[in-house]
Amino acid sequence: MPNTRSSWKSNLGFLLAAIGSAIGLGNVWRFSYMAHQYGGGAFLIPYLIALLVAGLPIMLLEYGLGHREKGSSPLTFARVDSRFEWLGWWMPVVAMFGIMLYYAVVIGWCINYLFYSFSLAWGTDTQAFFFSNFLQLSDSATHLGGLRIPIVFSTLAVWVLCWLVCFRDIRHGIEKASLIFMPVLFLITIVIVLWSVSLDGARDAIVNHYLHADWNKINLFAADAATRKAAGEVWAAAFGQIFFTLSLGFGIMITYASYLPERSDIAKNALITSVVNCLYSFTAGFAVFGIVGFMAHSQGVAFEAAIKGGPQLAFVVYPKAISLLPRMNSLFGILFFLMLVIAGLTSGVSLVEAFACSVTDKFDWSRRRVVTVLCIAGFLGSLIFTSRAGLYLLDITDHFITNYGLVAGGLLECVLAGWILKASVLRHHINRQGSAVPRLWDWLIRYTTPLMLLFLLYLSLSGDLDKNYGGYPTDQLILFGVGWMLICLVAALALAFGRWKPKKLKRRHRPEEDDLLT
Ligand code: ALA
Repeated sequence: MPNTRSSWKSNLGFLLAAIGSAIGLGNVWRFSYMAHQYGGGAFLIPYLIALLVAGLPIMLLEYGLGHREKGSSPLTFARVDSRFEWLGWWMPVVAMFGIMLYYAVVIGWCINYLFYSFSLAWGTDTQAFFFSNFLQLSDSATHLGGLRIPIVFSTLAVWVLCWLVCFRDIRHGIEKASLIFMPVLFLITIVIVLWSVSLDGARDAIVNHYLHADWNKINLFAADAATRKAAGEVWAAAFGQIFFTLSLGFGIMITYASYLPERSDIAKNALITSVVNCLYSFTAGFAVFGIVGFMAHSQGVAFEAAIKGGPQLAFVVYPKAISLLPRMNSLFGILFFLMLVIAGLTSGVSLVEAFACSVTDKFDWSRRRVVTVLCIAGFLGSLIFTSRAGLYLLDITDHFITNYGLVAGGLLECVLAGWILKASVLRHHINRQGSAVPRLWDWLIRYTTPLMLLFLLYLSLSGDLDKNYGGYPTDQLILFGVGWMLICLVAALALAFGRWKPKKLKRRHRPEEDDLLT
């Protein structure tokens, strides 16, 4: 059967697209507020362990599976074991309808703020501007209170841009866009980081708050139960963040690897993607803490009083700090929000691609038609997050989808690759391509990673049962968190129901694996 699947033009193009998917709003916006909220430097420990125990092994798994089976996640999983096809759908459904719907809106906010930067339109009270003028936040998640028109337009712009990129085939769309945008992103980031760390007060904030560790916050064995519980929350958040930031559990990396040519160094690519992404987050953290330190210094207040948790970090604290800069404030604002927009868009297109490729694989519809319908539906779905309750809704959805949806997906794919396909078979496939993965990986994928993820799910669940996430009322958490996940699950099951054309599921005979498979 001739291979008609589109492919990357170069390994660099693939790498930049995969890194572009990984580096996103999660690296600047999500990582920094988590690092601050969960113990500063101490957060880096569970983050690093999550990278080693789950991030890197699962990145290898996803690249290996996608490359071996040459398909999107549903096709890949169906080829390995048809009972797992629903899981292959769960991942892109979660990417597209669990994450991208609100992710597009947050990129939209960044576009709005990019324009506000020209005139520093947020004024002196950036908090009041963000909540009262910009979001016009309602008093509860169930009180939608109508749409915010400026956000509707910026969200529309995001979907149009995603459509323009995904509409074309992989090498003329995502690859070309990544080759242009990623170098620009790196350049802007370097400027922002150097600029931020050179400001007065930055050094103190970085040394005493970013790199300073509050070990109590991650101590799972603390004597007092409340500290242990809080530490469990931190560990769960670090693992959730690793999945989110490396774009794992979305089906994206499986899909991207399926476009790789026959001979590709999978292990090296997985290592580069993971390391570059996490280094990017770590470096961006210097900029965030540096500028907050500058703000605290220029206002003569303590660091704790200057920094804010959650989404407010990028949209309240940063604008405030930008206004306080001694010179070139607008330029700094434009660069900062442009950095977020580019980082967000290169991830957004991958979230759309994972679902679009799954649909074209299964139903053989034209890519153009699928992407067009998907972007229109995506925009309509995003509208709920552009309402006056949007911030609450995205906060709840993000918490549940990331901490449960992605982690559970990762756990089950370990079972599929580690036990059903067999980790050794996949490792031999990966090792035939180039750099060798040690045998330890089999052990990680079969035992350590799934057990750790199971423990993490337990930690998340016990934390959530103990106290309502974010203080939201139970009915809202059930409706927008649990309910949303159930809808995604039903959609995944429904999509897995239809039949494949038999030739699609035909597996290539690999004589070199005969011994391993018995
Ligand atoms: N990996 C993407 C991010 O971190 C989704 O934003």
